[in-house]
Amino acid sequence: MRAVICEKWGGPGELKVAEVAPPALADGAVRIRVMAAGVNFADTLMIAGHYQLKPPFPFSPGLEVAGEVTECAPGITRTRVGERVLAFTGHGGFAEEAVTAEANVYPIPSAMDFVTAAAFPVVYFTSHFGLANLVRLVPGETLLVLGAAGGVGLAAVEIAKRLGATVIACAGGKEKTAVARDHGADHVLDYRAEDIRQQAKALTGGLGVDAVFDPVGGEAFTAALRGTAPGGRILVVGFASGTIPQIPANILLVKNVTVIGYSLGGHRKRDPELADRSLDEIFAWWAEGALKPRISRTLPLADAAEALEALAGRKSTGKIVLIPRIGDNDP
Ligand SMILES: NC(=O)c1ccc[n+]([C@@H]2O[C@H](COP(=O)([O-])OP(=O)(O)OC[C@H]3O[C@@H](n4cnc5c(N)ncnc54)[C@H](OP(=O)(O)O)[C@@H]3O)[C@@H](O)[C@H]2O)c1
Repeated sequence: MRAVICEKWGGPGELKVAEVAPPALADGAVRIRVMAAGVNFADTLMIAGHYQLKPPFPFSPGLEVAGEVTECAPGITRTRVGERVLAFTGHGGFAEEAVTAEANVYPIPSAMDFVTAAAFPVVYFTSHFGLANLVRLVPGETLLVLGAAGGVGLAAVEIAKRLGATVIACAGGKEKTAVARDHGADHVLDYRAEDIRQQAKALTGGLGVDAVFDPVGGEAFTAALRGTAPGGRILVVGFASGTIPQIPANILLVKNVTVIGYSLGGHRKRDPELADRSLDEIFAWWAEGALKPRISRTLPLADAAEALEALAGRKSTGKIVLIPRIGDNDP
């Protein structure tokens, strides 16, 4: 099969596309014919050796796929050959075939095409699970979303709107704030030009926001913390800025603010039933038209480096999806 291969830690330019043996089918796993693979910022971290998971070389990056199940290990009962699914792969998604544990595989609605499905697992699952179950965002609250035109940020804008919140979307530049507005944000803030704390207060009658969704970190985190209302919650989702914020605990104390550390993978393992319910709700909201995944580009496997460079260089909006089998996908 053809796959994107990482042979040493480095940038996207070090990746190559090669013909390799398909991965072996492990116990409890299923094999998926990959029709589309979502690209994530975490892929840029993984190939650089900066991600929590460091697979042995050579490996294929790629955290999420959509496709068709072609083989199931003995004893698999929930998934069947021929089923259309989306899946978390950990790594190995940028390939024509991927193998992953059955617990990572979910059937997709019949009306959902593979490209759309590949854009779902990481960003919508993360945003929904985090906002509904951890932040417990309720109608009428105000959520500030950082990196709001990126993959997980834009999904958070849509999920928060569907949960009944008012959304302040922060992004770098007019083009990106326009994308967030198109996806439902009530207020937008270009944080290259505007002050997050000041605007968060100005838009909430001086109180500050009830909650923050932060996949960016760095100075933006600290500014958002200062713009959070007493009793507010901050969901720490990631550090796309490259800087892990050092949290001034005195502000947490004085304002009774709760900072919630969040890794979706851990929650999926600890409470698979809650995760299943989360995905059911996401699919229902997609079917009713409340979620409109923005797939800004689709590219062949050979252009994986270009896709990763766009994410690392802050040039992407929504999702980029790789298509291993051009001409062999959904209409
Ligand atoms: N905790 C979890 O379970 C979980 C799940 C999914 C993702 N994540 C994390 O969330 C973060 C975002 O992932 P993603 O796939 O949504 O990425 P993405 O599509 O590239 O979006 C990241 C956003 O961060 C902003 N950003 C600020 N400084 C940046 C910089 N120096 N370089 C690149 N982007 C920068 C960019 O927006 P502006 O230009 O508008 O600032 C960009 O749109 C990553 O750290 C990822 O690992 C965590």
